[in-house]
Amino acid sequence: MTVTTSDGVRLWVEVRGRGTPLLFVHGFPLSGELWSGVAEAVGDGYRTIVPDLRGHGRSEASESASMARYALDLVEVLEAAGEKGPVVVVGLSMGGYVAMELLRRAPERVRALVLVDTRAQGDTAEAARGRQETAERVLREGSEVAGDPMVEKLFAPGAPAPLRDRWRAIMAATPPAGVAAALRAMAVRPDSFGTLASAGRPVLVVVGEHDAITPPDDARRMAEATPGARLAVVAGAGHMTPVEQPERFVALLREFLTGVESPDGWPR
Ligand code: MLT
Repeated sequence: MTVTTSDGVRLWVEVRGRGTPLLFVHGFPLSGELWSGVAEAVGDGYRTIVPDLRGHGRSEASESASMARYALDLVEVLEAAGEKGPVVVVGLSMGGYVAMELLRRAPERVRALVLVDTRAQGDTAEAARGRQETAERVLREGSEVAGDPMVEKLFAPGAPAPLRDRWRAIMAATPPAGVAAALRAMAVRPDSFGTLASAGRPVLVVVGEHDAITPPDDARRMAEATPGARLAVVAGAGHMTPVEQPERFVALLREFLTGVESPDGWPR
């Protein structure tokens, strides 16, 4: 379905199934395609809601973006999808940054959190400067400027060439306006350790053992900062755990969801 946000941007959202609502948030500069296999495999009893963030996939771009705006978009997507209560939010990398922003801004919307190949710390001044420069180059020269150097870092060593090619193409198809806006938004995102410390709900942290963008140490720091969080390091995966090790990822997600839904609450 499409959802028009309060500032007039049309977002594409894939919704399927019935049951416990799961909201999946993709990373940069990817699309909801990242979650298609997982959304299908998670099985009966779940309603999966998979938006393309503004400026990504089939969603329109806006001149600028921010973590706050992406998070508000998610709230508006949930409303349009008829979800009135809290949902389980699953975010990968930039999708994790947005998920943590959603927890800050609309905690009543977050039942539990799955943070995948992401991190809680904000950018260093140097990294933020680099992002601003890349954003300018992307607007002048095209999205490949950001996507091509990322391809080598996305996957574990030895990942099949067709997988790399597919995601290189998806990143290249992300419009420059969407890529630049996301880079600028990430450059000024806040640190989220305090948010995790007071999360007060079930949190699962997942990371690929070979993640070269948000390495296992970042995941460990997040899990340590979050009371009761679980950490899963997935063998044979890089930064794209859900597409590199889908069966393992779905098994971890299902196990987590069972804990979230169990009458005894989240087993620690
Ligand atoms: C992502 O995968 O979403 C980005 O690489 C995250 C980042 O650049 O910080």
